[in-house]
Amino acid sequence: MKGLVLAGGSGTRLRPLTYTGAKQLVPVANRPILFYVMDNLAGAGISDVGIIVSPESSAEIRAAMGDGARWGARISYIVQDKPAGLAHAVLTAQPFLGDSDFCMFLGDNLIGTKIADAVASFAGSPHLAGSVMLKAVADPSSFGVAEVDDAGHVVRLVEKPKHPKSNLALVGIYLFRKAIFDAIAAIAPSARGELEITDAIGKLIEQGGVVRFDRVTSWWLDTGKKDDLLLANDTVLDDWLVHDVQGDVDAESKISGRVQIGAGATVVRSTIRGPAVIGAGACLIDAKIGPFTCIGDGVRIERSSVDHSVIMEGSRVVDIGRLEDSLIGRRVIVHPGATRRGALSLLVGDDCKIELAKEG
Ligand code: DAU
Repeated sequence: MKGLVLAGGSGTRLRPLTYTGAKQLVPVANRPILFYVMDNLAGAGISDVGIIVSPESSAEIRAAMGDGARWGARISYIVQDKPAGLAHAVLTAQPFLGDSDFCMFLGDNLIGTKIADAVASFAGSPHLAGSVMLKAVADPSSFGVAEVDDAGHVVRLVEKPKHPKSNLALVGIYLFRKAIFDAIAAIAPSARGELEITDAIGKLIEQGGVVRFDRVTSWWLDTGKKDDLLLANDTVLDDWLVHDVQGDVDAESKISGRVQIGAGATVVRSTIRGPAVIGAGACLIDAKIGPFTCIGDGVRIERSSVDHSVIMEGSRVVDIGRLEDSLIGRRVIVHPGATRRGALSLLVGDDCKIELAKEG
C-alpha cells in the first residue's frame, strides 16, 4: 500500500501564519503537523509516500520533510499546479499511485489514533472499494458528512451541508483502491469550484462499490484556526510529551511536570511548569513558562511570563508581564519600546490580531 499526503491548498484560515509558510508545517508541540502524519503512516507499515505540494509551498515542505529517511520511508513530491480540490489532487498523483491501493491523509489533520489497524483490515478485505474514518461532532456543517447503515457501510455523503443529515464528520484519512479513479472521472466540480473527494466516494458507492467506515473515538483536530491550534498543542503536550531535558538549566531555575528542553537551550533563574516544550537553542532568563506552552527553537524570553501559548522559532519576548493564550509566529519581537508612556508602537502584518489588557 502507498501513502498520499495532501499538503497543497492555500491555507487561508491560519492567516497571517500561512502567508509565509505552509499550514501543514505549523508546529504542534514544536513539530510540524506533517511529522505526525508521517509517524502514523510509517507506523502502519506504509513506506512509499507521495506528498502533494503547491508550487508556492513545494520548497519549504521538501526542506522540512527531506527524502523520508527519518521515518524509514521514501517520499516523492508531486506538484499540484492549482488547489482544484482533493479529488483533483488524487488525479494529479495518478502516475505515482499506479494500480496500488493507497491511504490518503490530509496534511492538516492531526488524530490521536494510530491508523495501523484500519490499514491492515482494509488490506485484508478485498471486497471493499474504500474505507473512511468518521467522528461524531457537535457541528458537522464545516466537514464532509456521512449517512451510514447498521452494517458498518457508508450510504451517502455530502460536503459541508447546510442541514447535515447526521453528526458524523469525515476525518481526513481515507483508504482507496484504483476504482476511485473511475469515480473521480464521473464527477463535476462542486459549487466552490473543486473536485471533491466526498463526491467521488459518493459516486464510488453509486457505481456499486462497498465503502466501510471506522469510528474515531480519540481526539481529532483539523488545525484550522488559532484556538484549534492551541487546543492541538494542549492535547499533544498532554498525551505524547516525554520528559527530556537536554539544555543547560542553572541551579536557580525550577522545573516541574513533564518538560522537554532541546539541545543547546539555556535556562537561567526561570520557572518552567509542564507540560511545556522549549526548543533547541532557546534562551530563557528570569522567565516563567507554562503550563501548556511551546517555545520554538532559538526563541529568547527575558523577564516575562508566558502561559498557554505557542511562540515560534526565532522570536523574542522581553519585559512582558504576562502573555497568555497567544500564538506568535516566527521572528516576532514583543517588548515595551522607548515611545511616550502609554503609547504603543506597532509593526504588524496583515490579518494579525492584537488584544491588550484593559487599563485599570
Ligand atoms: O479535515 C477534514 C475535512 O477535510 C473533511 O471533512 C472534508 O470532507 C474534506 O473535504 C476536507 O475539507 P477542508 O475544506 O477542510 O479541506 P482543505 O481545503 O482544508 O484541504 C485539506 C488538505 O488538503 C490541506 O492539507 C490542503 C490539501 N489540499 C487541498 C486542496 C483543496 C490539497 O493538497 N489540494 C487541494 O486542491
